Amino acid sequence: MKPTLFTTRLILRPVAEEDAQRLCALDAEERVRRFVDQPEAPNLAQCEAVVARMRAIDRATPALGFWMAEIRGEFVGWFHLKPPRDGEPAEIGDLEIGYRLMPSAWGQGLATEGSRALLRYGFETLRAPRVTAVAFDANTASLRVISKLGLMLWRRWEYRSRLGSVIPCGTYACIRTADDHSRAGGSCAS
Ligand SMILES: CC(C)(COP(=O)(O)OP(=O)(O)OC[C@H]1O[C@@H](n2cnc3c(N)ncnc32)[C@H](O)[C@@H]1OP(=O)(O)O)[C@@H](O)C(=O)NCCC(=O)NCCS
Repeated sequence: MKPTLFTTRLILRPVAEEDAQRLCALDAEERVRRFVDQPEAPNLAQCEAVVARMRAIDRATPALGFWMAEIRGEFVGWFHLKPPRDGEPAEIGDLEIGYRLMPSAWGQGLATEGSRALLRYGFETLRAPRVTAVAFDANTASLRVISKLGLMLWRRWEYRSRLGSVIPCGTYACIRTADDHSRAGGSCAS
């Protein structure tokens, strides 16, 4: 079972069945879907299916998967730390960080704060050799988060969207080094 993680402001907890409505509210926002290849807002049945898939990943890889993010009991989005998806550039053992937050929570450093907790967890607890993140080239906010975390560009590649378009993107990576356990900030920047 994956641990609940605590940051200065966030509680990152495992996904629960009741999260389907929260995920629907998140993905209802066009701004949220813009760079995640999700043209349409999902309906409740689709969100329930997403929760079921997240929970299946949790069962298959108990220490990894998706974390729902809350501030004082209010849902603000989610993070993941899991193996990269099939077809993405990756090396054996890679763990990929991802995040999606409610627009009301943007611009406060929360994606960076939650990701740092997952970086630390991935390196220190799971001893992952490498943590990666993927972002479309046009997703300036996500690229900025990746930069603040200290991940470096590893591979440029083209993502083929559900609608068949080709989207330029990159995989960014951070390698665990011997002294990672002593880094208080969860950053991979030297
Ligand atoms: C990407 C996302 C998670 C960032 O969340 P966040 O909590 O606002 O991120 P942070 O506050 O930690 O950092 C965002 C940084 O990007 C900057 N930024 C945001 N929008 C920007 C823009 N359009 N142009 C340039 N910089 C931008 C912010 O100023 C901040 O940098 P700073 O700390 O130097 O000022 C959020 O925008 C989101 O959920 N987007 C929709 C889903 C998504 O795209 N997920 C990522 C898929 S790869």
